[in-house]
Order: sequence, then C-alpha cells, then structure tokens
Amino acid sequence: MRFANRVAVVTGAGQGMGRAIAQRLAREGARVVAIDMNEASVRETIEQAGGEAAGMAQVCNIADSAAVKRLFEVVDAKYGRLDALVNNAGIGSARGDGFNKLMARMAERGQQLARGETPTVYPDITIDMEDEGWHGVLNVNLNGTFYCTREALRLMIRHGIKGAIVNISSTSALSGEGAPHYAASKAALVGMVRSMARELGPRGIRINNVMPGAVETPILKNVSAEWKAQMIAAIPLGRIAEPTDIASVVAFLASDDAAMITGADIVANGGSYFK
Ligand SMILES: NC(=O)c1ccc[n+]([C@@H]2O[C@H](COP(=O)([O-])OP(=O)(O)OC[C@H]3O[C@@H](n4cnc5c(N)ncnc54)[C@H](O)[C@@H]3O)[C@@H](O)[C@H]2O)c1
Repeated sequence: MRFANRVAVVTGAGQGMGRAIAQRLAREGARVVAIDMNEASVRETIEQAGGEAAGMAQVCNIADSAAVKRLFEVVDAKYGRLDALVNNAGIGSARGDGFNKLMARMAERGQQLARGETPTVYPDITIDMEDEGWHGVLNVNLNGTFYCTREALRLMIRHGIKGAIVNISSTSALSGEGAPHYAASKAALVGMVRSMARELGPRGIRINNVMPGAVETPILKNVSAEWKAQMIAAIPLGRIAEPTDIASVVAFLASDDAAMITGADIVANGGSYFK
C-alpha cells in the first residue's frame, strides 16, 4: 500500500495504459482522480477500481489550459492535497496531419518491395502535414502535459507536498519510429523533465518519463497479425507489453521506492530499442 492516504491524478484514464495505471495506484491505496475526455469510460475505470473509495472520475480536455486549471481546483477542493500526477493522455494523430495517407502509402510501398520492384511511393507525411495536424498532436502530448504539470505543482507546493510526476513518453522519441509530430512531442518531454528535475529537486519534487515500446492497448487493435508478428520478433523479451507492465513502472516511479530517481527516462520495451 505505497499510496495509502495519498492522492494521484491520472490523465487519459478511460482506457489502455491510463486505466491500468489508475487501477494499479488505487489498488496500492491511492485515491485516484481519473481524467479523460470520454466520460463513460473514465467512470467505468473508477467503478472497476472500487467506486468512491477509489477516487473520482473527471472529464477534462488536457489541451484546454483553462479547463485544466478548473480541474485541479476541483481536486484541491475535494482532497486538499496531491501526491502524484501521471501525464498519460496522448494521441498519435490529429485532423489534418495526413496520417491516413501515410498508412496507405506505407502499405503500397511494402507491397512494391515484396514484389521485388523499385518503390515509387514514399511516406511523405511531412510535406503533406498541415499546421492543424502538427499543432493537434503537440497541443495534447506536450502542451497538455505542461498545463497539468504546472497546475499539479501549484497544488503540491501550496500544500508543502514532496510529490512525484510521471510522464508517458515513448521510445519513438529515441528511435524516430512513428510520425514526426508524435516523435517530436514525446522527445520534448525529455528536455522538459530534465529542466524541471533541476528546478524541482530543491523542493523535493521528482519528475520522470517512462518510455514504453509497443503496448497492447486499443491503439494496436487495427494492426494486422503479420505486422504484430514482426513487432514481436524484434522484441528480445518476446512479447508486446501489457498495460499492467507499464503501470508497475509508473507506480514505482511515483512511489517513495524511487526516492533518488528524478530527471530520468525509463525505457520499458522488452529490449527492442537496442535491436
Ligand atoms: N500503446 C502504445 O503502444 C504506446 C507506446 C508508447 C507510448 N504510448 C503513450 O502512452 C499513452 C497512453 O497510450 P494508450 O495506448 O493507452 O492510448 P489510448 O488511445 O488507448 O488511450 C488514451 C486515452 O487518453 C484519452 N485522451 C486523449 N486525448 C485526451 C485529451 N486531450 N484530454 C484528456 N484525455 C485524452 C483518450 O480518450 C483515451 O481514453 C499515450 O501518451 C501514448 O502516446 C503508447
């Protein structure tokens, strides 16, 4: 019960990793404020965790700075403290980023290569990307993470709490796999965490990134069996991570067990980054 009498906010807690993280922290004694844009799913997360004793569900778009401010006012009014923030909410694509065209072109290029032809189709996502698509991903993955972190820090510092912040980055930040706006947003968290770790260390507040590789969440539902088999073949530990695998890393970093860890990027990808 590493989080007994502690309060944690988890963003993007309606499904996937965020749900697993919220439920893991609740199992270890935390009262969890589970946040998502999808009200029904985030309510279900808290109900499955044990209802009101486990915490509360809140609807909030983390890319909306004013809404994030209001949300943390609700947390303060309800619990009067905050011990951990998990910045998990993130998106891989946004309207106007040409992601669908990228997927179609990659499939066609793959077929050309498989037929032994010289490929004539290129990924070309950057030249196709509109400002709206670029900003759409950065607004959630980077700006939303910043808005939540700032309000969480204001709350922690107001109550003199030596809390912990954990962001979900991605190995995409290191490997470049994935679209450029996504990789850039996740790489930006590396610099943000190192700077904030220096800033917040003297207050006893820690901040770290977890970098998952592929994780079995709804995102992977549309991936073909062949593609999945290729992914697994490239993972030395021989399987795609489950959301609970990432939740246990997050729980460790958010707990006092990680008291000497700050400013770090913890890679959790079964060794595949090193292929
Ligand atoms: N699944 C993977 O393979 C993988 C790998 C590396 C990193 N990640 C990162 O892990 C995190 C969680 O991934 P997942 O696969 O569980 O995602 P998911 O798409 O299954 O769930 C994300 C949740 O966040 C919510 N959300 C999206 N935008 C939001 C916003 N603006 N405000 C509030 N909530 C919002 C969604 O409604 C959803 O419930 C993301 O940051 C993702 O980039 C995922």
